[in-house]
Amino acid sequence: MKSIKIDKFGGPEVLVLKDEKIGKPGPKEALVKNLSIGLNYIDVYHRTGLYPIPLPSGIGLEACGVVEEIGSEVKLFKVGDRVTHASMPIGSYSEKQIMPEEKLINVPNGVSDEVASCITLKGITAEYLLHRAYPLKKGDKILYHAAAGGLGQILCQWANCLGAKVIGTVGSKDKEEIAKKNGCHHVINYSEKNFVEEVEKIVGKNGIDVVYDGVGIKTFKGSIETLKIRGMMVAFGNASGYVDTINVKKDINAKGLFFTRPSIAHYTVKREELVESAKKVFDAILSNKFKVEISKKYSLNDVAQAHKDLESRLLTGPAVIIP
Ligand SMILES: NC(=O)c1ccc[n+]([C@@H]2O[C@H](COP(=O)([O-])OP(=O)(O)OC[C@H]3O[C@@H](n4cnc5c(N)ncnc54)[C@H](OP(=O)(O)O)[C@@H]3O)[C@@H](O)[C@H]2O)c1
Repeated sequence: MKSIKIDKFGGPEVLVLKDEKIGKPGPKEALVKNLSIGLNYIDVYHRTGLYPIPLPSGIGLEACGVVEEIGSEVKLFKVGDRVTHASMPIGSYSEKQIMPEEKLINVPNGVSDEVASCITLKGITAEYLLHRAYPLKKGDKILYHAAAGGLGQILCQWANCLGAKVIGTVGSKDKEEIAKKNGCHHVINYSEKNFVEEVEKIVGKNGIDVVYDGVGIKTFKGSIETLKIRGMMVAFGNASGYVDTINVKKDINAKGLFFTRPSIAHYTVKREELVESAKKVFDAILSNKFKVEISKKYSLNDVAQAHKDLESRLLTGPAVIIP
């Protein structure tokens, strides 16, 4: 079977398509034939080594597929089940994959393979960010950076549906309309304007209840500036670089802020959490709380280009790889 591997950290050129033999699933594992694979910014962090992984390694954390073979002790799934996942072991940029059964989730009818493959990681992330990292309330004013991105489109639609006032930032003119169509009440082009000043025009000084910041170093200070007293800073990503130090006195104490740096793994520790979160995501899709539009499809041969597009900020929404 074909699978993308990396032997060293680096640019998109380290992603190499290889032919390899896949073994048999262990007692509590399932062999899954991938039908569609999710492209996520975390894949870039793994490729560059920002999030170090043992090498050589596969890449990718999200895919939807069909169970082809199960281990002797597998109880939750049977051959033929349509499943998805959003977790380690890394290596979903593959035609086939062996996964522990406890990491797999059934895909309900009415959700396509492609949507399932790009909504599991992003959807569960949106779920825990909006419901658990900070339980969003009706009327809350939120700031989300990169609102036209893969996660951004989903989270902003869902936040809008929950009754929040959604302010989104985007990096280019063409993304302004996309963010507006995807739940943002106000869109700020932060490549052209100072987003702190623009946010103040909308909600006043120190007016934001919660910032969801996946952009990182470029936006961190400004995000803090927009928050209200006792506001919540959710720093959950680093597309522009990792924020590895904060000044507690200036950044946090000055306004008595709450600060969290969560990851999806912290909110899917137990299988029940994973299943419950995925159910909320699928229910939200099936009840039209948000729509998922695939912005671009790649093949396994094109993954280097997919990474280039993602890092060049060319993608506008969830993208998939069709093996
Ligand atoms: N902690 C978690 O559990 C978790 C889970 C999933 C995702 N995430 C994080 O959420 C964020 C969004 O993920 P995603 O997969 O949906 O990606 P994405 O939003 O589709 O892509 C990243 C976006 O970041 C913006 N950006 C700003 N400065 C950038 C720079 N210097 N280089 C590249 N991009 C830059 C770009 O939008 P503009 O052009 O509009 O600025 C770009 O489109 C990422 O930081 C990711 O790591 C975290």
